[in-house]
Amino acid sequence: VEISVAAEDLELSGYEHYMLKEIHEQPDAAAMVLRGRLDERFATARLDGLGLDPRELRSFRRIKILGCGSAYYVGQLGAQLIEDLARIPADAEAASEFRYRQPIIESDTLYVAVSQSGETADTAFAVEEIKRKGGRVIGVVNVVGSTIARTVDGGIYLHAGPEISVASTKALTNMALSFALLALHLGRLHDLSHADGQRILRGLQRIPEQIREILEDADPIAAVAEDIAKAQSAFYIGRVRGFPVAREGAQKLKEISYIHAEAYQTSELKHGPLALIDPHMPTVALIPEDELTDRNLAAAEQILARKGPLIAITHAGVDLAHLDARTIVVPKNEPELDPILLTIPTQLLAYHAAVRLGHDVDKPRNLAKSVTVE
Ligand code: G6P
Repeated sequence: VEISVAAEDLELSGYEHYMLKEIHEQPDAAAMVLRGRLDERFATARLDGLGLDPRELRSFRRIKILGCGSAYYVGQLGAQLIEDLARIPADAEAASEFRYRQPIIESDTLYVAVSQSGETADTAFAVEEIKRKGGRVIGVVNVVGSTIARTVDGGIYLHAGPEISVASTKALTNMALSFALLALHLGRLHDLSHADGQRILRGLQRIPEQIREILEDADPIAAVAEDIAKAQSAFYIGRVRGFPVAREGAQKLKEISYIHAEAYQTSELKHGPLALIDPHMPTVALIPEDELTDRNLAAAEQILARKGPLIAITHAGVDLAHLDARTIVVPKNEPELDPILLTIPTQLLAYHAAVRLGHDVDKPRNLAKSVTVE
């Protein structure tokens, strides 16, 4: 396979780091993954590369998503999108665990391998294991012609362009969008109405511009990162759709700023981690405007009552005026798609904290862009 990359894709183009450049490439990258895939007439997604006809696609009774690191966390978001829109039971698992536990491969399960590089050994092995046992597996992959892309039965290419920073940003956003497309497609093969399909379609169309809005008004995020950079440890909390966002946010902070961070379900806070809240433990809380806002606000109050510094990533419609919290407001989309936008500030928080601490942002210690060995 001939792979050609334009020279300007590999240059910093005035940015201080590849990570920052790639964060800013997200509006264009997001437009690329959606291009040609939104079918207005039938209010669905056109995914020609899946290699499965509608009858086959309808026959799957379960979806299992496999990936490593950040790709695994996006997989959790993907599983949620599929359950929300298609009402097919779906879950994500770390491919690195799956491959070692003698997984049961079922013919009515559709397996989905998600990987930026397409070369992660654990994910590639999981794919081989599924195929060896006769399972159907598709890929959600960025690098065209990569090992995983060549092994799967079909899939969705991310079209995010080359990603150089070890900490993944634009590829993750495009993975999430790919799962939204897959969920919409599956949903419209099942019971998702034309009107709901339209609602998601319109939401997807707004995403590139909404990412741009967040990036254009990012100074407050950099200011909040200064506070995080002073901490030894931080919590990231989110509930249901917000939880994968919290996991990914905590992972990013750990990877590049070397600050200990832990993600928790907001609902689990009172079952243990609340004991750790004090003035030295900041919490980044995902508080979207949705059916769980009040519950999230109650948790925020508990944190503040224990003098824990609170950073809320939220929507304009959520009233936080009575809380002594620092707020980062992102544009509202459809509830199913909101996690994609809520993730963007967490990238910038980790980036600015790492820069503040003087770390080599693009090449964090002990980590590789893709882990191709055992
Ligand atoms: C490595 C990287 C992570 C990445 C993971 C999966 O561990 O450090 O940032 O999320 O691999 O990579 P992939 O290429 O499969 O998405």
